[in-house]
Amino acid sequence: MKKLVALVIAFIMLMSVASAYAATVGVAMPTQSLQRWNQDGANMKAKLEEAGYEVDLQYADNDVAKQVSQIENMIANGVDILVVASIDGGALGTVLADAKAMEIPVIAYDRLIMQTDAVSYYATFDNYMVGTIQGQYVIDNLDLENAEGPFNIEFIAGAPDDNNARYFFQGAWDTVKPYIDNGKLVCVSGQTDFETIATQSWSTEKAQQRMENIISSNYTGDTKLDVVLCSNDSTANGATNGLLGAGFQPGEGWPIITGQDCDIVSVKNMLAGTQSMSVFKDTRTLANKVVEMVDAILKGEQPEVNDTETYDNGTGIIPTYLCAPVFADLSNYKELLLDSGYYTSEQLGIK
Ligand code: BGC
Repeated sequence: MKKLVALVIAFIMLMSVASAYAATVGVAMPTQSLQRWNQDGANMKAKLEEAGYEVDLQYADNDVAKQVSQIENMIANGVDILVVASIDGGALGTVLADAKAMEIPVIAYDRLIMQTDAVSYYATFDNYMVGTIQGQYVIDNLDLENAEGPFNIEFIAGAPDDNNARYFFQGAWDTVKPYIDNGKLVCVSGQTDFETIATQSWSTEKAQQRMENIISSNYTGDTKLDVVLCSNDSTANGATNGLLGAGFQPGEGWPIITGQDCDIVSVKNMLAGTQSMSVFKDTRTLANKVVEMVDAILKGEQPEVNDTETYDNGTGIIPTYLCAPVFADLSNYKELLLDSGYYTSEQLGIK
């Protein structure tokens, strides 16, 4: 009996020593208001814990100062590595200089962190490709190769302080530009430069306001609106709300609306015929990749990267792992989102 008690005590002591040495990963996420970040955070936490790490997961309500202070606290609490999806990619230089001074490696998650040499690696989806998928969808659906046109198009892009937003728009713009140049696509509002079409905080309300203004200034008479090329689902929802508010009805005369993320609201909108497509970025894939990166870095190994050319954060190229985004619409959503276990039919409101 005594032996057994001694054994149990020894085991408990061993476990507590082991857990005292389990490395801690600080995960800083931008907001819980958008579905994808909740999934990113939850997936990463689960995978990291499965791999034996402790996790300090924080969301910052899209508030830059709050994110800075969360990261400061993580550093003060002695995290071993940081994974950061930034709100403002240019606002973390000072706090990450502290991380660097403490030799805490930093992985930029989904969004590149700019103007700091503290970032060791970047993992994301191919952001430019997201835009090309959206642009190609417009080309294919309007049959721009053969159709005479002209078709009218408007653009709603993402947050100006999110480095990704420019890549999404650039990918879409480069893809549709030949048809703007040959006159088959016309942007009636003339608003095509990134600063004008950007949406602060990717806000649905701000996108809606811009959509309303565009409609009232350009699309009140007989002028038909054929496409609203939105960079993601939250802005697509804003465009949809703006159109509905202005009296547009789904069906004939409703424009093509693009999106990104396959958020539940947007998949439901696809089913309802208001949003045409989205770009699926399986957050499980990205989270798994980042967990592999964390694991390699903490074991002193080289993490796998597949791009060492594209992402310069102002201090040099950041070695990157790019996951592949996938086209999604009603033709393939079941396979992508339901069969893969990403959503249940109940979540999408399908019986
Ligand atoms: C992400 C998108 C997301 C957007 C708004 C971007 O950085 O890559 O997936 O829709 O932020 O949160």
